[in-house]
Amino acid sequence: MGETTMDLIANSLDAVVARAGDPATPIYARLFAEFPETEPRFIRDVSGAIRAEMLTMVFDCLMHADGGYQNNLIRAERVNHDGFGTDNPTFDRFFWIVRDVCRELAGPDWSADIDAAWTARIDQVTATTV
Ligand code: HEM
Repeated sequence: MGETTMDLIANSLDAVVARAGDPATPIYARLFAEFPETEPRFIRDVSGAIRAEMLTMVFDCLMHADGGYQNNLIRAERVNHDGFGTDNPTFDRFFWIVRDVCRELAGPDWSADIDAAWTARIDQVTATTV
């Protein structure tokens, strides 16, 4: 995956933050709208710190490709998440939810190149086999 792909994703996130601030609230709202059964699983997360950590890992996986490290992380988290009721297709779906919400928040700053970069990178990280 070329550096340009990662740069495009990083730049698009800068645009999201510049326009809308922290996208965590709308991203989790979308997750809970699509998968209502997942909301009570965050009961321990009183402060929002776990949700922030989870989203940070997603952005990190999308923006860095360091010799398979991200794929190992995803492999481990898929197993963890399956253990508390989030199956692998649902786990992977989160990346697309993040993409959809960021695209909406970025508005006119979201170019066709940015869209293609997100699609290529999400396809790559979710191709990780368990
Ligand atoms: C729809 C998909 C997902 C659901 C429903 C979900 C749900 C959750 C829940 C309920 C927790 C808190 C568990 C606790 O109380 O300790 C959590 C933590 C976490 N999630 Fe997710 N998750 C999803 C996708 C992802 C993805 C795609 C990633 C990263 C690639 C991720 C990374 C993490 C991390 C790093 C934590 C923090 C603690 C840990 O390592 O378990 N999650 N997730």
